[in-house]
Amino acid sequence: MATQPSHPADIAQLLGARVVRAVEHVLGEQITVQEAVIREAAPEHGADYQSNAAMALAKRFGQPPRQLAEQLVASLDVEDLCEAPAIAGPGFINMRLKDSWISERLGQLYADPRLGVAPTDSPARVVVDYSSPNVAKEMHVGHLRSTIIGDALVRLLRFRGDEVIAQNHLGDWGTPFGMLIEHAVDEGLVQATGDAAHGDGARGDGPRGDGAGAAGAAGAGAHAIDDLNSFYRQANSRFQADPAFAQRARDRVVALQDGDAGTLALWQTLVQESEAHFRDAYARLGVLLTDADIAGESTYQDQLADVASELQQRGLAVDSDGALCVFPDGFTGRDGEPVPLIVRKSDGAYGYDTTDLAALRHRTRDLGATEVLYVVGAPQRLHLEMVFAVAAEMGWLGDGKQAFHVAFGSVLGEDHKMLRTRSGDPVRLSELLAEAEDRAAAVLAQRGMEADAALARAIGIGAVKYADLASDREKDYVFSWERMLAFEGNTSVYLQYANARALSVLRRAADEAGVDTGIAGGAGAGAPAFDLREGAERDLALALLRLPAAIETTLADFRPHKLCTYLHGLAVSYSGFYEACPVLGAEDGLRQSRLGLCELASRALVLGLDQLGIEAPQRLSPPPARA
Ligand code: ARG
Repeated sequence: MATQPSHPADIAQLLGARVVRAVEHVLGEQITVQEAVIREAAPEHGADYQSNAAMALAKRFGQPPRQLAEQLVASLDVEDLCEAPAIAGPGFINMRLKDSWISERLGQLYADPRLGVAPTDSPARVVVDYSSPNVAKEMHVGHLRSTIIGDALVRLLRFRGDEVIAQNHLGDWGTPFGMLIEHAVDEGLVQATGDAAHGDGARGDGPRGDGAGAAGAAGAGAHAIDDLNSFYRQANSRFQADPAFAQRARDRVVALQDGDAGTLALWQTLVQESEAHFRDAYARLGVLLTDADIAGESTYQDQLADVASELQQRGLAVDSDGALCVFPDGFTGRDGEPVPLIVRKSDGAYGYDTTDLAALRHRTRDLGATEVLYVVGAPQRLHLEMVFAVAAEMGWLGDGKQAFHVAFGSVLGEDHKMLRTRSGDPVRLSELLAEAEDRAAAVLAQRGMEADAALARAIGIGAVKYADLASDREKDYVFSWERMLAFEGNTSVYLQYANARALSVLRRAADEAGVDTGIAGGAGAGAPAFDLREGAERDLALALLRLPAAIETTLADFRPHKLCTYLHGLAVSYSGFYEACPVLGAEDGLRQSRLGLCELASRALVLGLDQLGIEAPQRLSPPPARA
């Protein structure tokens, strides 16, 4: 049985191709499918799709648009797909799919485990730089956003068939490590080996080399440093207040940069301690990132000098007051002065800019990426644009290799200021996630549902993720527990609830028949003959057919909120159907059709939520559900 699963072509593509043919017939002009401008129509127009091609073409060919639309309609061969097309307004061509065509198409979806989402026929190799928190600091909500958005994109890209390489660009290198190491030594958190201040340590193998054997980091759960932020603050205030400490810290930085083995071991311990914190957060969030995805700033240290000389050889890097800088074209400050990327500071040190240049070179040159996504907050836009510009001049980008800043806005508190705790401290991620689970359990309890830990997690963590994904990533959004855990509105709970209701109908049908429904996989079992009698059934069916387009537009500019909007619409359609169309009480053929719609709705919701990294529990209300 080697039949390939068939993935029916996208509806807009199908209709677009027909419009292309009509245009050729009427105007003798070959246009592209994009130029056919097929859009989903607003339901009040009585159409499912529209072509907006006539207006632009009319301009181009100096014809009245409505007249051209009429000619196009006369030549438009869509009889197998649509009712007779209609013209509206200045020349929109409205098309309504035939119910019989929708039914047939649903049958195809039913048999396809991917629900019509065809894998790409030209897979890209995509590096996704995401999460990327800083060592010895707590992950903050910005890293939370990067983690959640990045993870959803990784899932979607993999589902599309791209080869994805996740890169967690940990901030694990730089001058603060001098004071952090000295503070850790004084606190007895790590054991000093050798005296860095006198530089008698043997040279190690460089960052992350085998020579930097760690002095036993704490395992998951129990952490040697409980609160990374206060640890960082303590180190910093000692650095400010105590000159002797500050001197030791500075010597430590030198020893670290010189690759002193003892110092590297201490550094490694601190890094591992932080990684244990991050690992906990990832596990709790259910994100895909693993230790294997970590490629922190330290990984590029031994490539920085080479990057600098490559930039110099190309004549891009120039001396500026003793520092080595690149001034990419078109980047000027408020005063009109060109702004530089600093390749090497006057004291010889390399920093964040050079590291990013080295990382990008590595990603396209060594990892072979054709696309590099940076899921990084909007404030780093200028930095990244400059890095991309320089990389393009160096040939690390261009020629089929591109980089994209997947920028995102801030998370605000209900006062519309940066999210803080009541006492004004930054919110600790671990506490935020614990609160999400507690609140989810409380909300479920209110509805008479005793939530075990797994269910509370699925609902609570899902709500945090969904709230982050559901608004356009470039906008700031207000963090509101009430809103994100509401059973109504564009929330994960609403989607999870719609799915649970669909599953409960299927369970009852199976109970009655004394059989296993075989849901969640559905392919294999024969598709019912779909019978779309009520408007609500047709709405739901059409929504189901639009899943592939929703995923495609989501990935077109990496905006997960588009998938959320789609899924919410699907759940609304399902609810409309659930209210209007009795399933179990319907006569035999109709009952099978409606059960099939329930099953497809559940499968589409589960698939969509899964792409967003959100679980879809089987039940969300106590067992005796409504009939
Ligand atoms: N560690 C950085 C921060 O916390 C984010 C790094 C983003 N990735 C990059 N390649 N610069 O701001």
